[in-house]
Amino acid sequence: MSSQFDIIHKDAAGRIGKLTTPHGVVETPTVMPVINPNIQTIKPSEMRDFGAEILITNSYIIYRKDELREKALRDGLHALLDFDGPIMTDSGSFQLSVYGEVEVTNEMIIDFQQKIGTDIAVPLDIPTHPDVSYEKAKEDMDVTIQRLKQARGLVKGDMLLAGPVQGATYGDLREECARELSDVGFDVYPFGAVVPLMESYRYADLVDVIASAKKGLDPTAPVHLFGAGHPMMFALAVALGCDLFDSAAYALYAKDRRYITSRGTYHVDQLKYLPCSCPICMAHSAEELKKAHNCTELLARHNLYVTFEEMRQIKQAIWEGNLLELVEQRCRSHPRMLEALKQMYTYSPWLEECDPSSKSTFFYCGPESSRRPEVLRFGRQLERFTIKGSVLIRTYPTKREKDYDNVLIFKPPFGSYPQELAEVYPLNAEVVRTPDYESLETAYLNTIKLVEMNTDAQFTFLMHEKFYHPLVEKLSSMANLTLADSEKK
Ligand code: GUN
Ligand code: ZN
Repeated sequence: MSSQFDIIHKDAAGRIGKLTTPHGVVETPTVMPVINPNIQTIKPSEMRDFGAEILITNSYIIYRKDELREKALRDGLHALLDFDGPIMTDSGSFQLSVYGEVEVTNEMIIDFQQKIGTDIAVPLDIPTHPDVSYEKAKEDMDVTIQRLKQARGLVKGDMLLAGPVQGATYGDLREECARELSDVGFDVYPFGAVVPLMESYRYADLVDVIASAKKGLDPTAPVHLFGAGHPMMFALAVALGCDLFDSAAYALYAKDRRYITSRGTYHVDQLKYLPCSCPICMAHSAEELKKAHNCTELLARHNLYVTFEEMRQIKQAIWEGNLLELVEQRCRSHPRMLEALKQMYTYSPWLEECDPSSKSTFFYCGPESSRRPEVLRFGRQLERFTIKGSVLIRTYPTKREKDYDNVLIFKPPFGSYPQELAEVYPLNAEVVRTPDYESLETAYLNTIKLVEMNTDAQFTFLMHEKFYHPLVEKLSSMANLTLADSEKK
């Protein structure tokens, strides 16, 4: 087995990795364009020009059509598609979830994928709909685990095997499923049955599904978010630790005359301008695009260009250490994405464990930034400051500093810290000079904790009126703290 995934750079729970397959190494995060073996809007041999490194197709569709099956068995999957890079194949599970049945068994479809020379095979898992009962979700999950174990025993040679994690929207089932599959050992872990969540904009539920499944996995295992192809949610999913995506969206949206951007989707008839610089958009005006005889194909090409552009932007953000800033921006494109952002930060204790402790910058982008893992980490490490004597806590520089033994800087959303640390990450954060309620709340709670922990020190708090928050009352009622008269600023 050549199961190999090397992580080369990290940010939050996101990472840049290298996945080794029989047909070459793939750099993640990346999107696998979905190839329909029957209808090819864009030929597989052209996919590299858009930035694709790996494709995904459906072995069940190939299996069911004599002409495709015979060619695949005779010449191999790569010859059938005319693509010599890595190819993943799905098993028919999606058809199972849509039509309720399929004409193959798990054993047959694993055997077939092996015979046609796929790089990553998928067993016949059961994608359980999000709103089924707990009992039904558990029952489906148990069948899925049995089939996956069976598949693990059948696979020979260097083909990679995916182990889809199921469990509907039950966090404990997702985690249990991931843990059991981890014990068996798969090469890639797709998170399944999330398409209905994305179709109904249930991004906050999607965050729960990803976070609970990730908890059951080895953090170094490669993760595929099955059926996720809209670039608007890539940054969020990557920050939560997803490495592979697959996009049929580029073609399906095009068929519906829809134009994808990283901020959302337009119907082509809504467009007066083309807000993109890809070769398609530079060569056409909005009017020309609408009227083109090959509008579907042009839209599919544009959709694919922006899909890969977003992935490159995400990789650059991981490289620079500002992935969470990108996530916060993207999550402002839709109120349901904003819900997902807030939900993601409920997992900050977990994100903090994954997050590299030193990065270059921290930009405060809004109230949600107060919940970032770096802020949480600062609050957990307050005991590292031992403070004695007379201490000034100030919200802005003042001449009075020389009158004290120690000076602490008060900086929302963090709290109070010794002046000497001002240039150390994350305290060197770029923040707003008019702090919002949420950032003040975190900063005051941390300051109250710090004052409580240093009873030998006598604190004076010098506050500008822009820093007022109800917690100031609590702070000023503390025995070892007095509020200084504020200076006009
Ligand atoms: N495509 C989209 N969702 C799924 C899933 O849960 N399982 C499989 N095998 N394919 C999918
Ligand atoms: Zn374009």
